[in-house]
Amino acid sequence: METAMANWYEAGRAHASVYRDPEVFALERERLFKVAWIYVGHESQVERPGDYLRSELVDEPILLVRGADGEVRGFFNRCPHRGALIAREARGNAKLLQCAYHGWSFRHDGALQSIPYEEGYAGTDLGGQREAWGLTPLPRFASYRGFLFASLAAEGPDLESYLGPVAINLDNMVERSPLGKIAVWGSRFSIVKRNNWKVYLENLHDGAHALPTHVSSIRAAQQAIEQAPDEWTRLRAYIMAANAQSPKDMAQLPVQCYPNGHSDMSAFRKTRPDTPGQREYEEALARRYGHDGVERILGVDRNNAIIYPTLTVQPNWMQLRLLVPLDVETTRVDIWIFKILGAPEWIQQRIRAFTNTIHTPGSLVRADDLENFERVQLGLRARSVSGINVLREFTAEPAGPGPSTAMSERYVRNQLETWMRYMKEER
Ligand code: FES
Ligand SMILES: [Fe+2]
Repeated sequence: METAMANWYEAGRAHASVYRDPEVFALERERLFKVAWIYVGHESQVERPGDYLRSELVDEPILLVRGADGEVRGFFNRCPHRGALIAREARGNAKLLQCAYHGWSFRHDGALQSIPYEEGYAGTDLGGQREAWGLTPLPRFASYRGFLFASLAAEGPDLESYLGPVAINLDNMVERSPLGKIAVWGSRFSIVKRNNWKVYLENLHDGAHALPTHVSSIRAAQQAIEQAPDEWTRLRAYIMAANAQSPKDMAQLPVQCYPNGHSDMSAFRKTRPDTPGQREYEEALARRYGHDGVERILGVDRNNAIIYPTLTVQPNWMQLRLLVPLDVETTRVDIWIFKILGAPEWIQQRIRAFTNTIHTPGSLVRADDLENFERVQLGLRARSVSGINVLREFTAEPAGPGPSTAMSERYVRNQLETWMRYMKEER
């Protein structure tokens, strides 16, 4: 280790090794990622009995499958015979899950169905013990309103208590549907970034970076709004131009910090334009929830939320990102959008326009941020200078969860305090 754990984080100051030491990263795997609840997929990706989804839990291959009883179960994606992957495709549908190597097959509940030439096992401990030779279930696996999470730790808080108040952001995504149903839309984008996973997370409610970092895309977008040939180009320009919030505006924008490192931030982009499409959508929503219900649901209006340690959602744009830390300096980000079932096509187009503008590999806004993250990671290689700070509003706001603003670094301190708690806990 570059430095003792006691020096990693205290009172708004972190040691740079927290972001660059491979040994710290190895310990994060054991004590944080393998303990916390990690997002692994959505129920709409395994809609019918026999549907399966290949996924990963930290660095281990897993597979999710829906049974004839309607239940989704999670298993390690590994054959009990000689260890081959069972699911090779990203997703599919199968009557039986069959290993392609020697043909062992399994039912949707993971039980062993058949072994070719089973008599060859006579006299071994496999003979007569077939129930012990099924697929290995994940230690913990749970759904929160269709969002599937798993944990490699056999014990710990249940998913709902783990999420706590940040769950409102997942509730909100589901409630935005007039049918109470949402579905992953298409496949995913993935971006591999050359920075520690925490560098990405620590940017997400950072109101102080928006103006200096995004100035070039803001300027271009402000001009484009005037000249936009159609509604969608204008919307995309508006989304980019809205990053031009002054520090004073950002200091008014509420951020909530919750237990377990979670947090969310209110919206600074207008999300209820006065257009026929929006009116049609709100009427459809009112038929299910009533007019008070519409105000309550659309009033949640969060720009984004962090479900610590690796998930972030933008409920008002139906967008979800999962961080997959690959090594201490490399992070993959998987990006999905959701379709609001029962909503007019216009609202779906808005969702798509937002993601194309902000989150895809071709986004001008994202390129600004990626450049920053890489610069941070490179700067941190200067070993003679050990510390970084997250002290903005440090004296004004107490430690731990509580109310904050987009100009404060309290949500980062809340993350690092949570991180230290995990890292200190031996298992
Ligand atoms: S490795 Fe799966 S059947 Fe042999
Ligand atoms: Fe940014």
